[in-house]
Amino acid sequence: MAKVFVVYDTKYGNTKLVAEKIVEGIGEVEGIETAISDVEETDPKKAADYDAILIGSPTHFGGPVRGINKFIDKLGKLDLKAKWVAVFDTYIKEDFEKAVKKMEKRINEKVPRLKLIVPGLSIKVGDMKGPIVDGELPKCKEFGIKIARQLKT
Ligand SMILES: Cc1cc2nc3c(=O)[nH]c(=O)nc-3n(C[C@H](O)[C@H](O)[C@H](O)COP(=O)(O)O)c2cc1C
Repeated sequence: MAKVFVVYDTKYGNTKLVAEKIVEGIGEVEGIETAISDVEETDPKKAADYDAILIGSPTHFGGPVRGINKFIDKLGKLDLKAKWVAVFDTYIKEDFEKAVKKMEKRINEKVPRLKLIVPGLSIKVGDMKGPIVDGELPKCKEFGIKIARQLKT
């Protein structure tokens, strides 16, 4: 059975909600085990033991938050079982840089063993504290389903 670890950081709860919806999507495909956890409570060694790691961050100043960067850097120093990765973010500003791009770049540089399963997902929030804009949450579930199907092929 393929195993997926979903790790996120969040200040106001929106990125956590995105992570939960992704897990819900993965759950719609049979035969995939998931774990989900806040980055502050996550031992990278545990995540390293899963087949795929999904990493989510709010966009702060056009990039991911520090805790997520640190997590990626720590993964780079481990002997990973994991082969696959995908990233997601939340953001407000449409025409500004989003965290996904920088997370993908950092993973490519620091953890080259991890290959992208799917391109990163960016989810729009209406204001600093949210809520997530209408029509965005179904994208999270779809993202989860897509990842789960990829892992089964
Ligand atoms: C310090 C700080 C910096 C931010 N910078 C950006 C930014 O550069 N671009 C953007 O679209 N949103 C920015 N935001 C809005 C966040 O993306 C938004 O608060 C976040 O998506 C909400 O997710 P959360 O509930 O998981 O914290 C910023 C928010 C904070 C608190």
